[in-house]
Amino acid sequence: MALTGAGISAESGIPTFREAQTGLWSKYRPEELATPQAFHRHPALVWKWYAWRRQIAAEATPNRGHVALVGLEDYYRKKGCNFSLITQNVDGLHTKAGNHDIIELHGNIQRVKCFDSNHIIPYQDWSTQTAVPPTCPRCGSPLRPDVVWFGENLPRKVLDQAWQAAQECQIFLSIGTSSLVEPAASLAHIAHRRGALVIEINLDTTTLTAQADYLLHGKAGEILPELFAAFVNQQSGQEFTEGV
Ligand code: OAD
Repeated sequence: MALTGAGISAESGIPTFREAQTGLWSKYRPEELATPQAFHRHPALVWKWYAWRRQIAAEATPNRGHVALVGLEDYYRKKGCNFSLITQNVDGLHTKAGNHDIIELHGNIQRVKCFDSNHIIPYQDWSTQTAVPPTCPRCGSPLRPDVVWFGENLPRKVLDQAWQAAQECQIFLSIGTSSLVEPAASLAHIAHRRGALVIEINLDTTTLTAQADYLLHGKAGEILPELFAAFVNQQSGQEFTEGV
């Protein structure tokens, strides 16, 4: 299984969260923009901040890291094995790249729901409204992005799927995540305890590094294509000559 974080989308031009200088949380305060209380206090500000991020995500294109994960999914499917792709990202780039089964732990920024009743509202029903934020055509409550905010629970179903995948996998790839946000951060530890090989791909060391079997140090967009080639060559009995 693969768990991805903001680092995999960095090469597509989407800012990460915790990197000094460039991370979103180095410029904006999460408690003012990414909590239900913040939305209650300043709904227009929060809506506009997510509208800005929605636009960046909509214009972004998947990079070689995303594409390599599509290759891995295809490869394992053809062999009759499971491949679970679990992401903390809300940008939808794994879907754009072509992965089929994606567990989006923190929601999707392109999807919109209402604050009071969680009605999912299609784009055509809110995009032409002038109110900021637009309101729910069914109940009149303000609309918000369908992402998980600080202080909110992850959807039960996706969490159960992620937990199960972590318990059953043989190889766990942790890609471009600081491994600081729970419950996602626990998935690698669950997999490790169950005997999976844990491989971390990151520009930096993280809280996971000490427990990981391997740290592949560098950009996901460069390492993942090499790793994909290595898996495929090894499994087909060919010798892999280029070191990863
Ligand atoms: P972070 O910003 O915390 O971490 C990004 C990680 O990616 C860091 O460890 C970087 O070193 C690494 N990185 C950056 N560029 C990279 C590259 N090209 N290749 C490989 N690694 C790279 O982002 P997340 O761990 O995803 O939650 O953050 C987890 C959650 O915290 C997010 O989903 C978001 C945030 O608050 C919600 O919005 C609910």
